[in-house]
Amino acid sequence: MAVLFRDFYYIDAEMGRAARGDLLVEGGRIARLGKDLPEPPGGETVRGEGKALLVPGFVNGHTHAAMVLLRGLGEELPVMEWLQERIWPVEAGLLPEHIYWGTRGAVMEMAATGTTCFCDMYFEMDEVARAASERGMRCCLSRGLTGDDPAKVQEGADLFRRWHGRDHITVQLGPHAPYTVSLEAMKSIMALAEEIGAGVHFHFLEAEWEPSFIKEKYGLSPGAYLEEAGLLGSGPAILAHCVWFPPSEIPGLAGTTATVAHNPSSNMKLGSGHAPAQAFLDGGVPLSLGTDGAASNNRLDLWEEMRLCALLHKGALKDPTVMTARDVFRMATLSGAASAGFSDVGLLREGWQADLVMIDLDRPHYIGWDRENIVDFLVYAGSSSDILGTMCAGKWLYRDGEFPGQDHDAVMGEVTRCREDLLRRAARRQP
Ligand code: NI
Repeated sequence: MAVLFRDFYYIDAEMGRAARGDLLVEGGRIARLGKDLPEPPGGETVRGEGKALLVPGFVNGHTHAAMVLLRGLGEELPVMEWLQERIWPVEAGLLPEHIYWGTRGAVMEMAATGTTCFCDMYFEMDEVARAASERGMRCCLSRGLTGDDPAKVQEGADLFRRWHGRDHITVQLGPHAPYTVSLEAMKSIMALAEEIGAGVHFHFLEAEWEPSFIKEKYGLSPGAYLEEAGLLGSGPAILAHCVWFPPSEIPGLAGTTATVAHNPSSNMKLGSGHAPAQAFLDGGVPLSLGTDGAASNNRLDLWEEMRLCALLHKGALKDPTVMTARDVFRMATLSGAASAGFSDVGLLREGWQADLVMIDLDRPHYIGWDRENIVDFLVYAGSSSDILGTMCAGKWLYRDGEFPGQDHDAVMGEVTRCREDLLRRAARRQP
């Protein structure tokens, strides 16, 4: 159905100042931008009255959506203890239906906080694809591969063949990390990615010990490892975290297909540190923003990540001029979409996908905003509670506190049931 946004302000990462006018959505895309556009016959007209703003939908650059089922487990434990005693035993009991309902829960949470696309790495990814496509949320999926099991690699390639390019979905191959996948396996996965034309998504240098692990095992620096493994191929490459990426090797990443997915909340909550994000930006390496899984965040709120990212690097570098609101806005929208392999997502342009967040500016904390400073107001004063609606490819995912086309209580019930079931299964396996 066509939707006309009448008299809205709107801004994206490439616009210097907010514009005011009408935006027509037709066939899932932004069909027209202009003034006094005619109302679409049989369509919907939403009136902004100059008190509401449209921005591109946010892209969660790195997450494990179904981990919402593990939220709150083992809070504030040392990382290895948290993983070994609280997370992995529960994950071992995950069934396809848990992944499906966990993702449905995550999709609700993300839609309510303005996310229209998420880059997900987990397993049983057909369930994730089903959950996202049934709700109409865009996603970039990768089957997390650990060990050298060719069957899992094949699963990743099969997922690509089944879903890539279908229902707003892209698929990448997902070798989990250099410490869970051998260099030889990494090379063969990358060769396969090149052969089928897939991008790649992996964890890189999240923990402080990882660079020395790579050095000891392979005699390589992180940059040399990426080269040796062929990880920066022709498709988009998402490097999640890069907390311990050596700044001296950042120039080698510039001009490649790599996007660093920066996950400030998760990295801080797990005590991992923080990525040299400003150095990546200064070096011309694109950054996206991610939440990581809800077990280590515990929110799936990209708006929160924007604010935290802008504050964190100013504080860490003792410099209020770095990591600007404009920088984080670009990371959360256009750069994230590009890392997911979408070339017409992340800007408000005619012909681009209608992935939109509708924001209420008629609130006390927006007093004083203008067309030049609106992005600063969003990042520093605003929050996802200002969101009136979230639309992906022209379809409302969230509107005025509700999720159109979804039985809220039924979904909440299923997600709750899956969580309880998972915890019961884990308890039964305890010695
Ligand atoms: Ni992760």
